[in-house]
Amino acid sequence: MERKKFMITDLRTKKRDGKKITMLTAYDYPMARLVDEAGIDMILVGDSVGMVVLGYDSTVPVTMDEMIHHAKAVRRGTKYAFLIGDMPFMSYQVSTEEAVRNAGRFLKEAGCDAVKLEGGDEVIDATIAIVNAGIPVLGHLGLTPQTISKLGGFKVQGKTAEGAQKILEEAMKLQRAGCFAIVLECVPDLVAKMITEKLSIPTIGIGAGPHCDGQVLVTNDMVGLYDRFVPKFVKQYVKLSTAILEGFKKYKDEVEKGVYPDKEHSFAIKEEEIDKLKKTKKRKN
Ligand code: KIV
Repeated sequence: MERKKFMITDLRTKKRDGKKITMLTAYDYPMARLVDEAGIDMILVGDSVGMVVLGYDSTVPVTMDEMIHHAKAVRRGTKYAFLIGDMPFMSYQVSTEEAVRNAGRFLKEAGCDAVKLEGGDEVIDATIAIVNAGIPVLGHLGLTPQTISKLGGFKVQGKTAEGAQKILEEAMKLQRAGCFAIVLECVPDLVAKMITEKLSIPTIGIGAGPHCDGQVLVTNDMVGLYDRFVPKFVKQYVKLSTAILEGFKKYKDEVEKGVYPDKEHSFAIKEEEIDKLKKTKKRKN
């Protein structure tokens, strides 16, 4: 069957039919092409780009312009996956007008299909305004890395009955505000299960156990390209950093020994052309 672009309607069908939704992050053209070719349903241009690509200590410093730059590259490499741009810290908090304007940039400048906002009660107004502007919104609850200092670090959220109840209530509010799905990050598996069963929109888990309607991972974590900090929930499917490092070391060694470039990796010229060249050179002297 010919592959078609993944849409929000496919997301709903998958939840209804109990089929798992797949999502990964991408930040550039080559990685987007691979994620798309693997058949992943949705690609998130996450503000995690700040940590895993740009080398910041957190996602807080990431700017709108940086996000748009990366989202454009990902768009060029994405044909079928549903593409979501992650709204960076302070791009949706100041006013609903600014939130709508910045959300619009992801669609108009980068060709994204939707945006993601972190938070619950505090982002309901912005979510409603963005949805009313015709822009689909993905919610994000539990561990919200942009407000990590308020949460007291990268900690599992909703571990008490009270904490879990708050996440559940906020998820219901985000659903009412018009979110098409909600990311649940670092919450206990049974809390994620309860929320998933209560919502009619899909949940996408990251460190939230197996009961969510779908899963997302930061691609650079799962391919072993970022090991400054590897969260417990990350499974490394390949270890690219080891393979790349081996390649770099071999290249250095071969260049230093004169093994590379060899004949196979050089361009040839016919002997007679070299002779002509030598004669021309002599005449000029
Ligand atoms: O920025 C990001 O990559 C995210 C995912 C962890 C969901 O928000």
